Amino acid sequence: MDTTKKGSLVVVGTGISVAGQMTIAARSYIENADIVFMGIMNKIGEHVVSNLNPNSISLDDLYKEGKSRALTYTQMADRIVQAVEEGNRVCVAFYGHPGVFVTPSHEAIRRVRELGLDAQMLPGVSAEDCLIADLGIDPSRFGCQSYEATQFLFRDYRIDPHMTQIIWQIGLAGEATLSVLDASHSQSGLAMLADVLGEHYPDDHELIIYEAATLPLCEPRIQKILLCELEHAKPTLISTLVVPSLGMPAYREDRLAKLGLTEEQVIKFRSPTVN
Ligand SMILES: C[S@@+](CC[C@H](N)C(=O)[O-])C[C@H]1O[C@@H](n2cnc3c(N)ncnc32)[C@H](O)[C@@H]1O
Repeated sequence: MDTTKKGSLVVVGTGISVAGQMTIAARSYIENADIVFMGIMNKIGEHVVSNLNPNSISLDDLYKEGKSRALTYTQMADRIVQAVEEGNRVCVAFYGHPGVFVTPSHEAIRRVRELGLDAQMLPGVSAEDCLIADLGIDPSRFGCQSYEATQFLFRDYRIDPHMTQIIWQIGLAGEATLSVLDASHSQSGLAMLADVLGEHYPDDHELIIYEAATLPLCEPRIQKILLCELEHAKPTLISTLVVPSLGMPAYREDRLAKLGLTEEQVIKFRSPTVN
């Protein structure tokens, strides 16, 4: 261990399409790090990062079929923190945004800060950012609720069908063991998801199974299905489900009245598409 050097940690995102969405700041931290750990899940992305810094090590070897991902994430954080403790300037590159649905990034930053050392996260282009661009959905239009599929099923969330619903990890919907690494076990979870959504939306409500392109020049997957077809959908591990809004809720006239406003006055100041 080099006790003269003070270790530090920067966690960056590579974007979903690594060869085009990596920020200039992320690239610079990757290039200048003593060691780079990669959680990119994609060989081409790993190649791009390794070209920027030859001392790049994949974290993917820690995933094993039948092994709990909770343990894998702890081991990833252990590796990262150990390299920082050894005095290295460590950069960790996760695909997408490194803070969106990524447990070990937050965990490693927390532990490094507890050691009194510097740790920071840089934002990246997440799957949700790509979704907004590819599907033309502005989260401000109807409001937006965003959840992890299994938590959505297991917990008593309150859906507001007036808002856009973004449901992540539908390829692992209902998978409680955290030890499955493919999307072939999601059917019973999807059937339950369809039931839950069916409490709020008609059977013929159109949903979108979305996959952002992971390579430049490739097209995203934008598969439109009806709610009644969801049970038989075949998502992958990179699929995200979008449930479009049923439309804006009614105005709360009591609140407008407290502000001395009427519905007509408010509509006059809004754009013609937002009422
Ligand atoms: C562990 S999370 C990682 C998210 C990632 N950190 C991000 O910023 O988008 C994995 C989930 O993200 C979503 N996801 C990952 N890649 C995607 C892609 N190319 N298109 C759409 N959704 C994607 C899926 O819901 C997937 O199950």
